[in-house]
Amino acid sequence: MEDPGQSVVSAGYDAVYAATPNSPTLRRLWHLHAEGPDFPEEFGHVSFVTLDQLRRMATELRLGPGQTLVDLGCGRGGPALWMARETGANLIGVDLSSVAVQQAGARAAELGLAGQARFVVGTFADTGLQAGSADGAMSEDAIQYVPDKRAALAEAARILRPGARLVFTAFELDAERSAGLPAWGADPVGDYRPLLTEAGFSVDTYEEAPGWPEPVTATYSALLDSSEELKREMGEMAAQALFLELTMTLQQKPYRRRVLAVATRA
Ligand SMILES: C[S@@+](CC[C@H](N)C(=O)[O-])C[C@H]1O[C@@H](n2cnc3c(N)ncnc32)[C@H](O)[C@@H]1O
Repeated sequence: MEDPGQSVVSAGYDAVYAATPNSPTLRRLWHLHAEGPDFPEEFGHVSFVTLDQLRRMATELRLGPGQTLVDLGCGRGGPALWMARETGANLIGVDLSSVAVQQAGARAAELGLAGQARFVVGTFADTGLQAGSADGAMSEDAIQYVPDKRAALAEAARILRPGARLVFTAFELDAERSAGLPAWGADPVGDYRPLLTEAGFSVDTYEEAPGWPEPVTATYSALLDSSEELKREMGEMAAQALFLELTMTLQQKPYRRRVLAVATRA
């Protein structure tokens, strides 16, 4: 049976993604405060990945044309499509939200990358991909929502071939402050390193990532300050789903840090 926290996450993201194309305010504020002025708008996202960070992730992934890259929790596919274009790798994006997957596929076609990218509905713990089929995997600010992070990292190890790298940004969770919260409270991992090792990775890099905490606070506060415009553009339900996450993050402070991890599959 699907974890109830996971259903809350997928319903919330489905609503927000469905409303995103109608909300220039959401896009404008995310670009201004989270992406930064140099981030190419056609690859826009809802994480906190900057262009510098994506370039760093590309270097760490060490991928080339024709190799297979998987993005876990890919959302509407922006950062992963940038990575596919940059490296020439063939991309498979996986996300819980069927709306995200449909929009990511449409975006790949618009960007002329349809032949190089496909997107599937799946979870971190159950991607549906073949064992040893990926030459690299990435993830941007998604794993903190996963109800069983051990299972997620075991699945990443399963789909990667030996020697392949997993490169991700994620929020570490504070167990006390996330207790009782949907999704975050289910498995509040404060350090992903022991789980990576247990799953069969060697940890090459684990560091605090730029994008913490100022851009998170600035982005979420700016969105809450524009709640009336957002409700008008997105509709009440999608806006409320968005505000719930923003408010809980700012008030409960479930995150310890935002980290960048690079790990190699043994
Ligand atoms: C903050 S968004 C980031 C999306 C994308 N990486 C980006 O940069 O725009 C987090 C994403 O994780 C997805 N997600 C959350 N829990 C998941 C799970 N258990 N399995 C797969 N995807 C999940 C959500 O649907 C959402 O698209």
